[in-house]
Amino acid sequence: MSASCEVAFTLNGVKRELTVPAGMSTLEMLRERLGLTGTKYGCGEGECGACTILLDGVTVNACLMFAVDCDGRELMTIEGVSVSETGERLRDAFVEQGAVQCGFCTPGLMVQASHVIAHHPGADEATIRRGIEGNLCRCTGYRKIIDAIAAATKPGTNRGAQGASHA
Ligand code: FES
Ligand code: FES
Repeated sequence: MSASCEVAFTLNGVKRELTVPAGMSTLEMLRERLGLTGTKYGCGEGECGACTILLDGVTVNACLMFAVDCDGRELMTIEGVSVSETGERLRDAFVEQGAVQCGFCTPGLMVQASHVIAHHPGADEATIRRGIEGNLCRCTGYRKIIDAIAAATKPGTNRGAQGASHA
């Protein structure tokens, strides 16, 4: 029998409160309790980046974090990132550059890329490579992903510059 805990946090700009088992991961909470299935379960061990989310503006692996530790924090998942201005630029660039094949890595990569762009506007290739090195892609060989992120670092190169809210 496991204890339950109450947690309250902000998720994609909306305040949430729920009761979770003490041992539940943030990834399980997002996918199974809150229906936010954009964040993927890959390895479950912090190795693949498929579960990348933003916690207080910093990228973390949701599979490694207990849901109870979200209390009082601000979470942003791919569902929130994708409607931000940067997220729209990234989405368009990933499509235009052909950076999506099976798509399993894409949500985590887009969250990670949004963090890279926020902290390194106009980032060069080496910075982009370092920024996404914890996010694995089995399909693309990374070239098109890096090109897509590089394109998305330049506001005005596609329609993402249209003023949606930012993560
Ligand atoms: S599922 Fe979390 S790092 Fe792989
Ligand atoms: S597109 Fe398939 S894992 Fe990246």
